[in-house]
Amino acid sequence: PGFTVEVLPEVDSTSTELMRRARAGQAEPVLLVAERQTAGRGRLGRAWQSAPGDSLTFSLGLPLAPADWAGLSLAVGASVAESLHPQVRLKWPNDLWVEGRKLGGILIETASFGEGAGARYAVIGIGLNLAPRTAEGLSTPPAALRDLWPQADAPAALARLFPALVRDLQAFEQAGFRAFHARFDARDLLRDRAVTLSDGTAGTAHGVGEDGSLLVHTAAGLQAVASSEVSVRPA
Ligand code: BTN
Repeated sequence: PGFTVEVLPEVDSTSTELMRRARAGQAEPVLLVAERQTAGRGRLGRAWQSAPGDSLTFSLGLPLAPADWAGLSLAVGASVAESLHPQVRLKWPNDLWVEGRKLGGILIETASFGEGAGARYAVIGIGLNLAPRTAEGLSTPPAALRDLWPQADAPAALARLFPALVRDLQAFEQAGFRAFHARFDARDLLRDRAVTLSDGTAGTAHGVGEDGSLLVHTAAGLQAVASSEVSVRPA
């Protein structure tokens, strides 16, 4: 599909804006980039904060009709990580990390549109730190793309990841997470690490399942964790 590319100097959130448009019936493929977000959102109702020039914040909106949506954020993570740098790892389910620090995050939402069955409008929001910044109130200081790639700026990073991402979204639509399982595995940050599930259960991460769930060895056996937040237990 051909994408309209739009750059806004300021918006509340590129994902909020594309979801608003989808609900109003606009369901075309769009790449919406913001120089500044006033109400950037992360997963689980968290805020995503960034200063102009410090980060790349954009959302890709497009109709998608995969047989199964499971694992889409893992597939997107694998695509973006591969485009950016060999050192970028994936922290299940949707974070990009470099050497123990978060580089960026992915937020995926969908809206129904039209009368057609199956297809939904997917809004894939991505935030990447470009420049090192002071981390007020963050437990771990964030990583920055410029640590890996000194010339990194928003247009260069987008040019590097966008074409592959569009191709990979088409591959996901055809084949689902199956086509990305090995690619996620190759960058899986949690594999063989001690993790604590949000309900307090301790275990060891053991890769991801066919549906993108996190497999965790616990005292009760192997558990497949679908959506709860998992954190790495401090050593
Ligand atoms: C996370 O780490 O929880 C996900 C962060 C996603 C942030 C991006 S920035 C562009 C898009 N617009 C938003 O409001 N959020 C996503």
